[in-house]
Amino acid sequence: MAQKIIIAIDGYSSCGKSTLAKALATKLAYVFIDTGAMYRAIALYFLRNNVSFTDESSIAGALQQIKLNFKYNAETLKSDMYLNDENVEQEIREMAVSSKVSEVAALVLVRDFAVAQQQAMGVQKGIVMDGRDIGTVVFPSAALKIFVTADPKIRAQRRFLELQSTQPQITLEEVTQNLQHRDLIDSTREHSPLRQAEDARVLDNSHISREEQFEMALTWAKEIIGE
Ligand code: DC
Repeated sequence: MAQKIIIAIDGYSSCGKSTLAKALATKLAYVFIDTGAMYRAIALYFLRNNVSFTDESSIAGALQQIKLNFKYNAETLKSDMYLNDENVEQEIREMAVSSKVSEVAALVLVRDFAVAQQQAMGVQKGIVMDGRDIGTVVFPSAALKIFVTADPKIRAQRRFLELQSTQPQITLEEVTQNLQHRDLIDSTREHSPLRQAEDARVLDNSHISREEQFEMALTWAKEIIGE
């Protein structure tokens, strides 16, 4: 039987990391973990409960009340994010959460909380995890690390089209500003900022199709797995 590995996929917001991670996981029969969803669910809890982002004891107390789970949804064929047993998959993608999540994800207590759970999910290997610090902090010895990038204008346009079905009132301007804001905070924060791991393979998908991107990553994975 082929060996199971950890595949770490990092990159900027809305550059197609999750799409790639999901497709790879399906093809290899691996578990897919969207770590951004975990930070989004934590941010949602903080917003709902007016948790101060600057008061460490409130943050620590709030984290003790948070239980995160992924559950497979047979209708969408994807895993949904659950916050304390409530399906929050849709709500965590809304602008109210998107506009605050980077601030929450920059908090060291929040990162320690999420990273510990992510590392536990990788014990059995056979996972594809996407985020910002997977190849640098969560799994620095992952067998395959991919750093996905794309032109910021193309990313904003793709994200805008994606959000239109669920949030028809949203404008391209709003989406562009939110992406710029998140990229800036994610890459300049003090704790585990977004950066490319030295041994990551860079995949710029600005001008290639989803299928081409998938084939490229699958070839890399197969080289390592030995299929
Ligand atoms: O991938 P996403 O856009 O759903 O991520 C939401 C936010 O969480 C984004 O601001 C970056 C942050 N994040 C992070 O800091 N570390 C991760 N491993 C994943 C996401």
